Amino acid sequence: MQGIQEIDGDVRSTSKPKLEEVRRFLKDERPLPGQVFRDEDIFRDEGKRIFSREWVSVTCAQNVSKPGDVFPVRVAGYSLLVVRDKKNEVRVFYNMCTHRGAALVTEPCRARGGLLSCPYHGWVFSLDGRLSSAPFLTQSKENPRASEEELKGRGLVPVRHVVWRDIVFVDLSGCAEPFEKRIQPLDEHLKPWTSEELYPLSTNEFTAEANWKLAAENFVDAYHLPVVHSQICPTFEGALAQESLVLSDRIAGMLMPEGYGSDPKAEESLLPVFSGLAEEQKRRVEAFFIFPNTLLLVEADYQQVIVLRPQGASLLHETFASYLVTEEVASERYQELRDETDRASLEINHQDIALLQELQKSRSMPAADHTQLAVEWDQTVAAFQKTWARVFLGAEDVSEVE
Ligand code: FES
Repeated sequence: MQGIQEIDGDVRSTSKPKLEEVRRFLKDERPLPGQVFRDEDIFRDEGKRIFSREWVSVTCAQNVSKPGDVFPVRVAGYSLLVVRDKKNEVRVFYNMCTHRGAALVTEPCRARGGLLSCPYHGWVFSLDGRLSSAPFLTQSKENPRASEEELKGRGLVPVRHVVWRDIVFVDLSGCAEPFEKRIQPLDEHLKPWTSEELYPLSTNEFTAEANWKLAAENFVDAYHLPVVHSQICPTFEGALAQESLVLSDRIAGMLMPEGYGSDPKAEESLLPVFSGLAEEQKRRVEAFFIFPNTLLLVEADYQQVIVLRPQGASLLHETFASYLVTEEVASERYQELRDETDRASLEINHQDIALLQELQKSRSMPAADHTQLAVEWDQTVAAFQKTWARVFLGAEDVSEVE
């Protein structure tokens, strides 16, 4: 069994007038309605129309770095377990015991002996998903241990998944197009930033009282950098040179060819850089969204991943992960630079979360319908919004619009 298709069969809980407003946006008749950032019906429909049909990221593999690690996640109404089994393989299951459906784990943990025990009646599962024991399954005093045959076919429900650049993606429908096909344009584009050279630096979990789409838009917004993050982008110079790059109907990015625009010498990395980069790629900053919920930034010596896990229209959990380049960076002499990279990236994320939470409050007013994108600056933000509307409305609605 590869997946479960829908939370329920109803894919039409968003009211007709609300859908009509989204259609009008797609026809360029109005800006994206403010309600898509705050409406719980729309959030529930996103679970059915987007998150249960697309390849979505759930966390990063560095959150389960050792065999026995278990990391539970909730994304758009689905409760999943990401684990690393004793063969060092990352696996994903529904976080649900196959007896009466109890959640197996509520916090990240280590599975003692590589086994997970259900807190309800004590069934025990191994991290490859098999049911390993079930106390007195046949209610026989003489025979407390169930046989292999009796345990068979009761394993955890697996979820189709892949790990790409350390990001764990799942397909809850079990029938989305092959991931390799979906990611190919970005995979090809990022070849010089070789994934084999990634060194996991750190991973942190954050909560923001904000809609997940605001976080996605913010990630590809170069305009805010000199204002909100002046510590890395002191002038508008780097941001002014930004370019928008649309790689597919699900993937687009914002590129700053000259980096953050400060003194080139000052920007030269003291850390190991990706070995395949051409000279002009060494100053670049590239930030992409992989629709719906994956954000990826690369620099010459760094990769950042943000996995957005929507919990409600105004509540977001995220995995924020940083990577450096090559094992060499683990050595003692890079200790200070490693710490500084971690500190600086977390500082930026804190600034963004504070901003997003305030944005959510103002976007919750009806007056939010009067916000307008700045055409020259917001091309990648516009690409994200159009992608959202197109996927949310679904193929049948889009053909009406086009
Ligand atoms: Fe898990 Fe009963 S619900 S053992």
